[in-house]
Amino acid sequence: MRIGIIGAGKIGGTLGLSWARAGHEVMFSSRHPENLLDLVGQAGGNGLAGTVPEACEHAELLVLAVPYDHLDDALNRMGDLGDRLVIDATNPYRFVPGEGMHRLIPEDTSAGMLLHQRLPGTHLFKVFSSIPARWLTQHAFQEPDWMAAPYCTISQPLISTIENIINDTGFEPVLVGSFQQCQRIELFGEFSNKPLTAAEVHEQLGH
Ligand SMILES: NC(=O)c1ccc[n+]([C@@H]2O[C@H](COP(=O)([O-])OP(=O)(O)OC[C@H]3O[C@@H](n4cnc5c(N)ncnc54)[C@H](OP(=O)(O)O)[C@@H]3O)[C@@H](O)[C@H]2O)c1
Repeated sequence: MRIGIIGAGKIGGTLGLSWARAGHEVMFSSRHPENLLDLVGQAGGNGLAGTVPEACEHAELLVLAVPYDHLDDALNRMGDLGDRLVIDATNPYRFVPGEGMHRLIPEDTSAGMLLHQRLPGTHLFKVFSSIPARWLTQHAFQEPDWMAAPYCTISQPLISTIENIINDTGFEPVLVGSFQQCQRIELFGEFSNKPLTAAEVHEQLGH
């Protein structure tokens, strides 16, 4: 699949490398694509660098992985997303040195729900927000049981496509529910930063 990474930093860059290794064609994007040469090199023949609009043009799947306070700007650069397939890995926080994490949206909603309301025509999947970037290298394809990648969506027809994409990172997809459930997989939610196997997430969900 052709994948466009919007925000090729810690989480976006690591995800993109996982997918490039799995054989996908990944365009990493940046406001300064000339800085992405190292990342593209690590991706072997499957990595490309481009601007945000170039990644949108290139991709069948777009992955949003920018700091939340840059999300508006990134979405403006992306243009009309229509019915595109989108993964949202963001968490609605800003780190303030000496103070910690500041929540950027009201307590009674989630970044996933707000994005769904903003982009209602897209096929949106909220996933990877709960997984620290370093785990994607440290815990991928973990034996004997893969670690879970809990996700939320309402796009039933594209679930198998995205579950295959999640599997390619070495994590096991577990559907948590619709966007009402997103807080559970965003930072400080019950499934965030927890090294749970898929069976353990299913058990907590009562499946
Ligand atoms: N780090 C983690 O472990 C982790 C885990 C799960 C989820 N998340 C979430 O994922 C998001 C990214 O976190 P991160 O830690 O990966 O951040 P990061 O390392 O700082 O990387 C963010 C990337 O976004 C790009 N970017 C920033 N503003 C942009 C804009 N206006 N338009 C286009 N690209 C822009 C930057 O590239 P340029 O400056 O080159 O444009 C940078 O490479 C956050 O919402 C975070 O909460 C992070």
